[in-house]
Amino acid sequence: MADKLIIFDTTLRDGEQSPGASMTRDEKLRIARQLERLRVDVIEAGFAASSNGDFEAVQAIANAIKDSTICSLSRANDRDISRAAEALKGANSGRIHTFIATSPLHMEKKLRMTPDQVLEQAKQSVRFARNLVADVEFSPEDGYRSDMDFLCKVLEAVIAEGATTINVPDTVGYAVPELYGQFIKTLRERIPNSDKAVWSVHCHNDLGMAVANSLAGVKLGGARQVECTINGLGERAGNCSLEEIVMAVKTRKDYFGLEMNIDPIHIVAASRMVSQTTGFVVQPNKAVVGANAFAHASGIHQDGVLKARDTYEIMRAEDVGWSANKIVLGKLSGRNAFKQRMQELGVVLESETELNAAFTRFKELADRKSEIFDEDILALVSEESVTQDKEQYAFVSLSQHSETGERPQAAVVFTVAGKEVHGKSDGNGPVDASLKAIESIVESGAEMVLYSVNAISGSTESQGEVTVRLQNSGRVVNGVGSDPDIIVASAKAYLSALNKLQSKAERLAAQG
Ligand code: KIV
Ligand code: ZN
Repeated sequence: MADKLIIFDTTLRDGEQSPGASMTRDEKLRIARQLERLRVDVIEAGFAASSNGDFEAVQAIANAIKDSTICSLSRANDRDISRAAEALKGANSGRIHTFIATSPLHMEKKLRMTPDQVLEQAKQSVRFARNLVADVEFSPEDGYRSDMDFLCKVLEAVIAEGATTINVPDTVGYAVPELYGQFIKTLRERIPNSDKAVWSVHCHNDLGMAVANSLAGVKLGGARQVECTINGLGERAGNCSLEEIVMAVKTRKDYFGLEMNIDPIHIVAASRMVSQTTGFVVQPNKAVVGANAFAHASGIHQDGVLKARDTYEIMRAEDVGWSANKIVLGKLSGRNAFKQRMQELGVVLESETELNAAFTRFKELADRKSEIFDEDILALVSEESVTQDKEQYAFVSLSQHSETGERPQAAVVFTVAGKEVHGKSDGNGPVDASLKAIESIVESGAEMVLYSVNAISGSTESQGEVTVRLQNSGRVVNGVGSDPDIIVASAKAYLSALNKLQSKAERLAAQG
């Protein structure tokens, strides 16, 4: 039997740490369901002790997801570990992931602890966690910048205490592939009980090498778990990207010789869901999930692909959830065609009610847009799931007037806790006027730190997808909206960001 590579997804924990990427419990649950469809082995659902909101999210995911192991992060102390264990109680298979920093810099400046104290705390935390669950992962934070002798001592001790997975983070993205691979290999060779644990890699992308480093950790170092996120979401330059790791190991099976449980057909839908939920747009030239990843623009390439696909294609777009024929549905398409197309795209709606609601929105869109592309369907379904939550603010309608030489005017109708309100304003442009019209009622005082528009399927007929990032009292959130009218998409995105600011404020208030 070929060796197996464990895929550990941390979109909902490390990915969420990215400023503005925070997600509600329901959003996390929806993404966890998609990760389960993707057959991810381990889902790191959050950091249960960090907030009540995170505790509830881990708990909800542990109760709902049955096929993947559910993991909670926890600092190396009894309180954090007990909270993690409690949140994981309902899981079919639960894991506690405990960590403490081991690099000289982190121990001295951040923890203000001596190496001996860190060693003791690491041992004690793993011992404590093993009394609560059988599956315990230990991470030496900033492991890659730690002293090799000290790291060996800590890791040998925690394996002796019962850690079942040892994860070696390159916390600041400093590693280069050959050295990182060698680092893992040396650890495994020098630690006498290293064969008692699964070795895992966790790389950040500050130098753009997270995927390369992780693959070196697997190939040269012998690691058998990769920690990664959908779209490479994560703080600063992000984490190792799940779709790139999976497709590299799959496409180059001749080299890696590893099996995975992953079903790649669900990759594009997962990517779309994460970008729609967090507002982190996927760059067009991103490998595997970028809009151009399988587009052949040059005549020579197109000619080659038409004659024999593998002249320029190493993977099949449809294998990761892109469709082979791009024009999909129109006004006359029925419910069955819609359902089938969604299945082909790897989108599974939970119930008939969800399907019906999505189909109604599809019909409304088809009335306004003659050709509906896969990207439209994926945007529509993600937005459908987002708007199912009970929200404080919801878009109703908008009118605006702009004319050369005149100051644009806008009037926006929306609901606040179910009650319809009307806002009016002028502005520098129609988008500015519309958002000011909303603000004239809400008076959030939030500062806009990012506004971006993206054409979902590439032409002026396309839907516009708008991302708005707002900042208020130290909180940063992203809102996303899509519509063929970019002014409406902007108003939806703004309202969605206000909803997130509101729910974040409520979560913080609940924590006291
Ligand atoms: O990057 C890191 O060090 C982490 C650990 C907490 C695993 O995310
Ligand atoms: Zn990390």
